[in-house]
Amino acid sequence: MVDEVTEYKRQAARRAVQFVKNGMVIGLGHGSTAHFAMLEIAQRIREGRLKNILVVACSLDVERQAQQRGIPLTTLNEHPHLDLTIDGADEIDPELNLIKGGGGALLREKIVAQASQREIIIADATKLSDRLGSRWAVPVEVVPFGLRPEIQFIESLGAKVTLRKTQEGTLFKTDQGNYILDCRFGPLDHPAQLAEQLEKRAAIVEHGLFIDMATDVILAGPEGVRHHRRKSATPTRD
Ligand code: A5P
Repeated sequence: MVDEVTEYKRQAARRAVQFVKNGMVIGLGHGSTAHFAMLEIAQRIREGRLKNILVVACSLDVERQAQQRGIPLTTLNEHPHLDLTIDGADEIDPELNLIKGGGGALLREKIVAQASQREIIIADATKLSDRLGSRWAVPVEVVPFGLRPEIQFIESLGAKVTLRKTQEGTLFKTDQGNYILDCRFGPLDHPAQLAEQLEKRAAIVEHGLFIDMATDVILAGPEGVRHHRRKSATPTRD
């Protein structure tokens, strides 16, 4: 039997895929929730309900999986403007700011988000949090050449820093060959300010704070599927 959280992820993904229309060029994120969106897209293509779409994958893994399922792929260099992107998140605050990068794909996910007219985030409702950092560390992608100085810099900002490892215990490397630092700051009062501080450092390629990027957040939970839009203060029930 599928557990409840998995079912919520699937529901959020299905709702988001309804916004994908024939002829669109879309981005597809990395992670277990975005994976359900991929499955739904593949099914719609197979059934002829979705035609002429092209997908930019946010990781090599997503690219491989999409290929296996017959989803036509493209690149940002061929299509620099995307109609929409569907992606997951690790933590979501009431302003629809996010922590992402639990799967290590934060750099490509942010590049794709910035190329998208609409960034639709899908998640189960447990990802909601009053303040970013309450539940999740901020992932930071660092060039190996500058690893030590950046660890020291981030520690000086008050975080407990862990170099991410794989389940096998080897160093985790991103699709770009960089390392990930998981930086536990605790609840953040000013996430945008922290983002700016991190962006000033040369060896920090990108961080997992997605500020003002999500246009839509679709959350599924025991109360149903709720669609939060950036410009509207009140969520609508779908
Ligand atoms: C991938 O790097 C992340 O940004 C994911 O979007 C995030 O970790 C959510 O993953 P799940 O959908 O598996 O929770």
